[in-house]
Amino acid sequence: MRNRLFGKDIITVETLQKEDIDLLFEKTKEMEKLVKNKGGDDRLKRKILAALFYEPSTRTFSSFITAIQRLGGGFIPLNGMVQTSVAKGESLEDTVKVFSYYSDVIVVRFPEVGSAKKAAESVSVPVINAGDGAGEHPTQALLDTYTIKKHVGTFSSLTVGIIGDLLYGRTVHSLTKLLFKLGVGRFIFVSPKVLKMPREICNQIKNGKGKVLEVENLSDVIGEIDVIYDTRIQKERFSDFSLYERLKHFYIIEAKLMEKAKKDAILMHPLPRVGEIAVEVDSDPRALYFREQLRNGLYLRMALLDLILRR
Ligand code: NCD
Repeated sequence: MRNRLFGKDIITVETLQKEDIDLLFEKTKEMEKLVKNKGGDDRLKRKILAALFYEPSTRTFSSFITAIQRLGGGFIPLNGMVQTSVAKGESLEDTVKVFSYYSDVIVVRFPEVGSAKKAAESVSVPVINAGDGAGEHPTQALLDTYTIKKHVGTFSSLTVGIIGDLLYGRTVHSLTKLLFKLGVGRFIFVSPKVLKMPREICNQIKNGKGKVLEVENLSDVIGEIDVIYDTRIQKERFSDFSLYERLKHFYIIEAKLMEKAKKDAILMHPLPRVGEIAVEVDSDPRALYFREQLRNGLYLRMALLDLILRR
């Protein structure tokens, strides 16, 4: 298969084609074997990744850093851009330009929708969007989709239920678009009324003959869902703090509720969770957020870096 991802930016899932995703998932499987057998290799020796994070991150930041190291490369880890010249007022465009002279790939997280695209337009090295405000988070969606694919036969027969802050949750924006592209035909969006999935994403599905059900009550629909994807209410996007306080525990998935879910459903979450899945649920064999999503995040990011950085 031809590697069309070489030298490419990853800003949104919309520009990815099925063949790119197939190739990436094949490579992800290889990376899993490589890590398990040898820990990694030196194929990205002397390649440097700059990770510029203007918003907090635990998993995305550290898995990218781990991924480049397991393939022999180096990194510039800036998880706390406030300590750089940003504090003196330097723009994102100028900052990425600087790092493009030091590195071969830039991973950026910035609080504004569209910022990763702007960053990519300012430099010639590839840029990976690690979250542009409430916009998209394509690598999270890719690792989630890879995880789903490992557990289910075909995408077309799935009902995917997405729960929580669908308005501001960038992971679920990317995930919904990607799963629809790959053939999922039915979505149940479960959210408080003020945090519904953006209209353009719903319309994209409906116009493409997909089915969308939007509800507020999770308990009524959980029994119909094959992939239960939960997310936190995105506190940092609220200007009205009392509204956040009212909504933060709108959904809490407890063992009792999971009794109503399908026996072969899977339960996912991009993490961090802040109370929306009870700790008692972690030992449910259907819960994949610690066991699988984290591991797959590393393998998928290794695969992506390999494809972007080597022809
Ligand atoms: C997500 C994010 O930053 O959008 N976290 C992550 O990358 N796994 C989800 C979130 O913060 O809710």
